Amino acid sequence: MTDTQYLSDWRPYPYEITETRLEFRLDPRATRVRSQIDFHRISEGNLVLDGAGLKTLALAIDGTPLDLSLLPESGETLVIPADSLPESFTFEAEVEIDPEANTSLEGLYLSGGMFCTQCEAEGFRHITWYPDRPDVMAPFTVTVHSEMPVLLSNGNPVSEAPGKAVWHDPWKKPAYLFALVAGDLRAISDKFTTMSGRPVDLNVWVRPGDEPRAGYAMESLIRSMKWDEEAYGREYDLDVFNIVAVDDFNMGAMENKGLNIFNSKLVLATAETATDGDYERIEGVIGHEYFHNWTGNRITCRDWFQLCLKEGLTVFRDQQFTSDMRSAAVKRIHDVQTLRARQFREDAGPLSHPPRPDHYQEINNFYTATVYEKGAEVIGMLKRLIGDADYRKALDLYFDRHDGQACTIEDWIKVFEDATGRDLTQFKHWYTDAGTPRLALTEEWSGGSLTLNFRQATKPTPGQAEKPARVIPIVLGLIGPNGDEVLPTTVLEMTEAEQSFRFEGLGARPVVSLLRGFSAPVTVAREMTADEQALLLAHDTDPYARWQAGHDLALDGLIARAKGQEGGAEFIRAIGGVLDDAEADPAFAALCLALPGEEEIATTIAASGVVPDPDAIHSARRSLMQDIAQAHEPALAALYDAMTPIGPYVPDAEGSGRRSLRLAALAYLSRLDNAERAEALFDSAGNMTEREGALGQLIAAGRDADALARFEAEFRDNRLVMDKWFTVQPLRSESHLAVARAKDLAKRPDFDWKNPNRFRALIAGVTSNHAAFHAADGSGYDFVADWLMKLDPVNAQTTARMCSAFETVWRYDATRRAKAKAALERIAALPGLSRNTSEMVTRILAAST
Ligand code: TRP
Ligand code: ZN
Repeated sequence: MTDTQYLSDWRPYPYEITETRLEFRLDPRATRVRSQIDFHRISEGNLVLDGAGLKTLALAIDGTPLDLSLLPESGETLVIPADSLPESFTFEAEVEIDPEANTSLEGLYLSGGMFCTQCEAEGFRHITWYPDRPDVMAPFTVTVHSEMPVLLSNGNPVSEAPGKAVWHDPWKKPAYLFALVAGDLRAISDKFTTMSGRPVDLNVWVRPGDEPRAGYAMESLIRSMKWDEEAYGREYDLDVFNIVAVDDFNMGAMENKGLNIFNSKLVLATAETATDGDYERIEGVIGHEYFHNWTGNRITCRDWFQLCLKEGLTVFRDQQFTSDMRSAAVKRIHDVQTLRARQFREDAGPLSHPPRPDHYQEINNFYTATVYEKGAEVIGMLKRLIGDADYRKALDLYFDRHDGQACTIEDWIKVFEDATGRDLTQFKHWYTDAGTPRLALTEEWSGGSLTLNFRQATKPTPGQAEKPARVIPIVLGLIGPNGDEVLPTTVLEMTEAEQSFRFEGLGARPVVSLLRGFSAPVTVAREMTADEQALLLAHDTDPYARWQAGHDLALDGLIARAKGQEGGAEFIRAIGGVLDDAEADPAFAALCLALPGEEEIATTIAASGVVPDPDAIHSARRSLMQDIAQAHEPALAALYDAMTPIGPYVPDAEGSGRRSLRLAALAYLSRLDNAERAEALFDSAGNMTEREGALGQLIAAGRDADALARFEAEFRDNRLVMDKWFTVQPLRSESHLAVARAKDLAKRPDFDWKNPNRFRALIAGVTSNHAAFHAADGSGYDFVADWLMKLDPVNAQTTARMCSAFETVWRYDATRRAKAKAALERIAALPGLSRNTSEMVTRILAAST
């Protein structure tokens, strides 16, 4: 087991690099990499270089060969003693690597016959010897020799001839932002002129034949470039911007300087093959990677503990972008849903960690919801506390002060302190402390004055027993009993563990519309009657708070039903009002109609100290859906018809809002019409959003054989669409059938499990089916564990990431816990288990009971 890395162990690198020159001779089995790195000593210390899995052919300093006995026998560091080095020198290496054997999709590898790279976080060491740490930055010149028709690297093209291309990136960057692509690719191209008049050539590179599917990615790129100029004053800084789509990729996309590499599912889209959700994600992730050019690349991280410096900020920026391009209210609600489903879940279990962790074994395991999504929420809170103008001022200062540097969270906080004059010492706990605070509210009403008593508490998390009080921006309003807003949106700043705020001169007792806009990533504990919730659902002026009120009402009903009690009557009644107003804002109505998922119900039950029963939760949700459908059939049917698409498919907020409402109505109606409408929709729909939605209902209703066969016949040659086909079957099947179904699917020749998209499609289809994954007989756990054990030797990164499916298992009953523990222990015992997976399984098992 490899040692733990600690934040406190960081030391500056004793050399700076003035230039890095790389020369690649590409060959699938034996690629040669020659490097020349110009070093200059800046402080005392040996030259330490990282390398992994390299066949080293030669090393030299200033042309004098080095004795290869310096090379480590095992391990990944090459140490050249300082006393053998002049103050300035050129280090040279020639190594050989085998891209075809590289299944980890880290370093240089082949995807569908094309060479590509992935270097974040520590992939560059698989390419050649280098100080593979983000605080060592350099300009790069890269020469690529290959017979492939298209040869790309970072920066601007210098020269191009058949078989050879030279690229120069003048902006100094760390090795994790290096990229190289070589393949038979076609571009769709456009141009952008920056705000200062600089022309930029834009290309989205895809496999021949995929060009017609790349247009939306290009439009999204242009919108991103424009938006960053307008919202942040940030301009692009090279002559070209290239995006390449690859099929084999561990994550979503990567912000390599001037050469972003994308999972093809985040580039390729047509109405017939991509859903509204896919389009929204494409726009958001194209934006995200583009925005990294300033928040990540021009200003990067000093070390990997600071990952949220670039990721939290860039997620925050892509969220702002999407909310400007689409509907701000819908985007905020989506983001809250994701945060709760992924980050609150993470924070409540054994993998809980702060946005800025202070130790890790494998950094790839820290590309988490906490670093990304909570990192973004923390910035949202800062902005809420200081206001928009000061936020912009602080960001201007950040870009001014730190351009070209590798920074820390301390640097970031200092910028806000200097720009606003505030002391942010207490605020910093949001970065350094793990766990989701619970905010409890009790109210006192007397003589026209309302006192709100808040109390905050955070449970201990692994390694952090003490939880000092946080600064919590509490945004609220007050709604009178007749539905009028008697106090408009107000920001309270809570800094103590317990704190009270008083509102006077009120006529009648109002209802508190709490945490408007989801003003802080906390859970809320307060007593509310169903009538009060219904009042907010009907009258709140804040769309998030309105939605949340309905959501809580539904959740209360579902939890009562899961406990075998009556529940949900008030929600069923309140839904009537939502349906009456639905056509005015279809997207919002669709969000209100969607019941909380089984996972969220389980989380809420567990948080109250009760052991959740997955089967009871499943039946509770089904029965409430049935009752809602029966109570509102005419209105639902009318809405379903009213939301019939008009005109051609447009993947914008309005069109997708109508489709989401139509599908929300369909989900209810399918309980009553035995999926008759779903079948008709499946037959007639011209877009994947409705097709996939209808297919899900057909599967849930158990009348899917014909539709699945037709879907397959139509799309068998489209990997991305077939991924949906693989997911939807285990996901939407009745829980007792899902694992058997997934096992059959896994036997198909097109279950190309070494492809991360295909692997995730099937396995996450099971893990996202709550009652199936947590089946009492352990079949879900075993199925997933078997596949993780099979994937680990091939692709440790993706295996480790998917272990998080197990992070909630200790909250279930003893039978399930024992099954989960046995499955995890089997993984832990796998001979040669990767460091990635070992760390994840160890952390989860450490909390087993
Ligand atoms: N930095 C990437 C982002 O934009 C994510 C990333 C980190 C990544 N490691 C990766 C992507 C490995 C693909 C493969 O969030
Ligand atoms: Zn990112």
